[in-house]
Amino acid sequence: MTDRELINMAFTALKQAYAPYSGFTVGAAIECEDGSVFLGCNIENAAYGDTVCAERVAVYKAISEGRRKFRRIAVAANIGSYCMPCGSCRQVLSEFSPEMEILCAREDGRYVSYRLSELIPKRFEGEK
Ligand code: THU
Repeated sequence: MTDRELINMAFTALKQAYAPYSGFTVGAAIECEDGSVFLGCNIENAAYGDTVCAERVAVYKAISEGRRKFRRIAVAANIGSYCMPCGSCRQVLSEFSPEMEILCAREDGRYVSYRLSELIPKRFEGEK
C-alpha cells in the first residue's frame, strides 16, 4: 500500500467523525504489520473529557482484533496545516510500535512523515 492510499483511507474515515462540540473532524488509518488496515475517527462527548481521538479509535480497533504491531498510521484533517497526533495518542501508539511511521495530511492532500520515536522521545515505559 502506498502512503497516498493510506492517506485516502484516513480521509474516508474522517467522514464518520462525530465532532459536534469542536467542529474539528479527524480521520485515521492504521496499517498493521500483516498489511491489514483499521480506520478511526474522533468521537466527542457532551462530557468533553470522554472524547477519543481518531488515532486511538483506529489503534484500539486493531488491538481488539488481535493486532499488536504497526507499520504506519495516516492522520487526516480538513485544515490548512498538518494535523499532528496529540500527546496521549503518541503515548498509546508507542506502547506497541515506537518506531512506526506517522503520516500527517492536510486538506490539499500534502503530507509530512515522522518516525514515532521522533515525536515522543523518552516515552513513559513503566518501571523498567
Ligand atoms: N483530535 C483527533 O482526533 N486527533 C488529533 O490528532 C488531534 C485532535 C480530535 C479530538 C477532538 O475531537 C478534536 O480533534 C479537537 O481537539
